[in-house]
Amino acid sequence: MIDGLVDDLAGDLPARPLVLISDDIVAPLHARPLLRRLKRRGLTAELLTFPHGEANKSRRTKDRLENRLLELGAGREAVLVAVGGGVTGDLTGFIAATWHRGVPVVQVPTSMLAMADAAVGGKTAVNLPGGKNLVGCFHQPWGVYADVGTLATLDDDRLAEGFAEVVKSAVVGDAELFRWLEAHHESLLARNGAALTRAVAACVRVKSRVVRRDERESGRRAILNFGHTVA
Ligand code: GLY
Repeated sequence: MIDGLVDDLAGDLPARPLVLISDDIVAPLHARPLLRRLKRRGLTAELLTFPHGEANKSRRTKDRLENRLLELGAGREAVLVAVGGGVTGDLTGFIAATWHRGVPVVQVPTSMLAMADAAVGGKTAVNLPGGKNLVGCFHQPWGVYADVGTLATLDDDRLAEGFAEVVKSAVVGDAELFRWLEAHHESLLARNGAALTRAVAACVRVKSRVVRRDERESGRRAILNFGHTVA
């Protein structure tokens, strides 16, 4: 995945400064190695980090990251690259949607939940004290690059959160995936790479089918929230 991502960025956006955004846990594991690869390819790239956790999917963190973008001199040519889980993707996507009235965002999900759901479909947002995702917009990513190899750094609980999204995708849109899960859930729990890739690919297909028909959730897309409130 990383090779494909670096090739695509170098091929299609070579002159654009890239700003990677990641939290303090994921940055050393995945964002810094990616930054090094991008720089070795001669691309202009920087990394901004923020403290991990849902509490930082906030206007305050958005504000701080935007001030850092300003200090870097990132203008309308910048491309933001979100490396991490759902918080990073939503926050970075929202910053990209409004930075200089909108710059491209590349999603590099590193959690199962983000690969199976959050990184795909263009929803971006921050939370307010009064509720989750209350300020945000739709901003489709330039690309989504998921490498199940990054899941090796997730603990079992975080991985299970993502598996819940896989079951959701199967229930709402892919009966064949549901049957496959019944037969192969042990492989997923054992973190078998081929099984994880198959599950992520199936979820992305379900989600893109729904989002193509109803990007802004005026109807059908609400089915993708199945189980979220209960969870
Ligand atoms: N996570 C549900 C959606 O993207 O619509």
